[in-house]
Amino acid sequence: MAKESMKITPWEVSGNIDYEKLIKEFGVSKLDNKVLERIKKHSKKLHFMLDRKIFFAHRDLDWLLDEYEKGNKFFLYTGRGPSGPIHLGHLGTWIFTKWLQDAFNVDLWFQFTDDEKFLFNDLSIQEIQKWTYENMLDVIALGFDPGKTHFIVDIKHIGLMYPEAIKFAKKITFSTVKSAFGMTNENNIGQIFYTSMQAVPAVIPSILKGKNVPCLIPLAVDQDPHFRVARDVYPKLGYYKPAIIHGKFLPPLTGVSGKMSSSKSEVAILTTDSPKEVEYKIKKYAFSGGQSTVEEHRKKGGNPDVDVSFQYLRTLFEPDDKKLERIYKNYKSGKMLTGELKQILIDRINNFLKEHQKKREQAKKIIDKFIYKPSTSVS
Ligand code: TRP
Repeated sequence: MAKESMKITPWEVSGNIDYEKLIKEFGVSKLDNKVLERIKKHSKKLHFMLDRKIFFAHRDLDWLLDEYEKGNKFFLYTGRGPSGPIHLGHLGTWIFTKWLQDAFNVDLWFQFTDDEKFLFNDLSIQEIQKWTYENMLDVIALGFDPGKTHFIVDIKHIGLMYPEAIKFAKKITFSTVKSAFGMTNENNIGQIFYTSMQAVPAVIPSILKGKNVPCLIPLAVDQDPHFRVARDVYPKLGYYKPAIIHGKFLPPLTGVSGKMSSSKSEVAILTTDSPKEVEYKIKKYAFSGGQSTVEEHRKKGGNPDVDVSFQYLRTLFEPDDKKLERIYKNYKSGKMLTGELKQILIDRINNFLKEHQKKREQAKKIIDKFIYKPSTSVS
């Protein structure tokens, strides 16, 4: 069977994703050992998502590190389109962002694009506001420092955003947006404008401080096209181009193509799922690299490279390289059965979610500390 061709835009990810090809198509740089060594010089240890190339590409990281080494500290910027519940696939970027915040001791600006989700989805403003609140709880639960983390919500903070967004909008043509995103004359005019809203948080600290501050954007690679368009504009407005670090997608439970999506909730594990739901979803849907009978599996062994449970351990839930290696070998040799591998993952996810759900509850009391207020002093 021919491989499904890959399609990647900020609003659609499908097909078999060839990350090497993406690097060429998007014109980004590979995250090679040289730049990883430079990161390590400052962070001491490398996060396993860097070692394992879950974060695999970048733009201008060398420049960012040059500035950092000159004493010109950067800030982090990432975001979330609040269109539904948070699933495990969203967490990788944010867990990594939190590691960066701690490793470099830097501020984070986190954008909630309620306007985007209104313009692109069939959802009411009210529904989106509910998801904005719910999604904020998940972000806070990951442990971001409230003194260094600033949430901006596009509609709420429009007074801060709009004067800058129109400057970007004035320098981006409809024809650029058409070719970058495959938009057509049928797209609504809010969608055409939207990239200018996503561009703005990368310069908010520069505006507030009255001097240029370098910015690093950790993102899943489908978000890169917005910045490919906007990066041409930043210098025209007198700002630095933000640096970017690109992450891979967590595959859906059912297999290796596309990305996990909460609109298909049976193949996504939500942060609010109960232990029983997690167990059910993994046992029923997690694509397995095992053989069809135990006998055959013992003889021929499994294929961890296509096994979704193994991929989840590698991407999110088994930071220990030695343990991961042992699981890999045992599964490949047939010593470990699919049921045993799935059980390891189920236990890991449920342990994680137990803590996460507790912190998610506690987040309700401190949510206000995270939402940006003009009176907040920004370090
Ligand atoms: N558009 C993103 C989404 O749909 C949200 C987002 C806003 C974002 N700003 C960002 C993601 C910066 C990564 C980096 O989820």
